[in-house]
Amino acid sequence: MEIRVFRTDAEIGKTAADIICGCVREKPSCVLGLATGASPLPTYREMIAEYEAGRVSFKDVRTFNLDEYCDLPRDHKNSYYSFMVENLFSKTDIDMANVGFLDGNAPEKEESERYAAAIKAAGGIDIQILGIGRNGHIAFNEPSDEFTDEAWKVKLSDSTIEANSIYFDDIPMPRYAMTMGIGSIMRAGKIILIATGASKAQAVKDMIKGEVTPHCPASVLQRHADALILLDEAAAALL
Ligand code: F6R
Repeated sequence: MEIRVFRTDAEIGKTAADIICGCVREKPSCVLGLATGASPLPTYREMIAEYEAGRVSFKDVRTFNLDEYCDLPRDHKNSYYSFMVENLFSKTDIDMANVGFLDGNAPEKEESERYAAAIKAAGGIDIQILGIGRNGHIAFNEPSDEFTDEAWKVKLSDSTIEANSIYFDDIPMPRYAMTMGIGSIMRAGKIILIATGASKAQAVKDMIKGEVTPHCPASVLQRHADALILLDEAAAALL
């Protein structure tokens, strides 16, 4: 793991976006694994700025998002699909035909197989962006007794429901989600994990300094050959 600590979110976003845009310039049809939530937003803003400045085109890029809620229509304002349309896809030239997304309303087994086959057909993920949950989750792989492999349907933990409920103002937050598994994430060529704020400090410490255990799913990144961890000072406070 390479760990870098920054003063501001904007610097983290710039660093991550520079790596991603560099990859896209070198390999215009590269495959990006994308995350939702607050952590990648400065990165997406920088990617949009690079696109608007004419310094990068995403038209041939293929993307796969990490997760999607179950029991929520895809076009609901709180779906992760809507999040990505609003915060990245609609503001760049990403071709929606090249966007891969888990369907939280499809049968689990078929959906898992479909997603695994789609990622494989695309040649695998070149760069995977990740956030981390306060409980050490990556994607929606919550702490448990074993590491998962391909996409699966997860019951969200109380910690995740508490953290994400703030976004749901009209309906109760879904209790289940479809998520890429730990195996799918670990097969990415490069991983960039972004964590900011004091609420992530313990999870960040467990990820980097703790034992590798599915009770802190992010700790598995210690075993990845090319994992870059971008932190602000608050998230790095316990290191
Ligand atoms: C989102 C995802 C989650 C988040 C994590 C942190 O697609 O997979 O693992 O990355 O819950 O969320 P934020 O960035 O909102 O603190």
